[in-house]
Amino acid sequence: MSLHELVEPYEFLIGTWQGQGRGHYPTIESFEYTETITFSAVPGKPFLRYAQKTTNPDGAPMHTEVGYFRPRESGHIEFVLAQPMGQSELLEGTATVNDDGSLTIVLGYSEIHNSTTAKLVEQTARHYVFTPDRTAVHHEFDMAAVGEQMQNHLVADLHKI
Ligand code: HEM
Repeated sequence: MSLHELVEPYEFLIGTWQGQGRGHYPTIESFEYTETITFSAVPGKPFLRYAQKTTNPDGAPMHTEVGYFRPRESGHIEFVLAQPMGQSELLEGTATVNDDGSLTIVLGYSEIHNSTTAKLVEQTARHYVFTPDRTAVHHEFDMAAVGEQMQNHLVADLHKI
């Protein structure tokens, strides 16, 4: 069975992406990390499975998250994520092909649910720019958390391996 028609334009995502990132926030020490992301298809289904893991410069595990990437009609994108720190994150936004052939995905609407013991995350946003050949991506993650206003937590550059 082939890819669902809504997933077809995002076939380039399927596989493994890896690269380096750095993180910061007013309340914590800045840090660097290596990130690995995999997207996989379920034949005929209108979503991609997503799994992310990160390690620190010594190779020790850091953040990890899993979810579903749900491309809809007319460039509308939904991204449903489970966070091991106790949040579920529902993001929505748009995918746009730019004049130079690069692809921007902006997920600017978020709905976050926090478990009773989680550090409070109130809002998140994710911004991805894929190169025209779709082999590399620049990613930025912003959040309003632990009483701070919406601002950047992560910046990363990954490439398809
Ligand atoms: C704090 C790394 C993604 C929310 C931290 C800290 C590190 C870190 C090292 C400081 C120490 C700690 O509390 O563990 C990362 C990495 C990520 C990532 C490597 C992915 C590449 C996220 C995401 C969210 C998030 C997706 C929200 C959905 C937070 C919060 C804090 C935090 C709320 C606590 C800040 C505080 O205690 O003042 N992160 N993070 N992080 N991160 Fe992240």
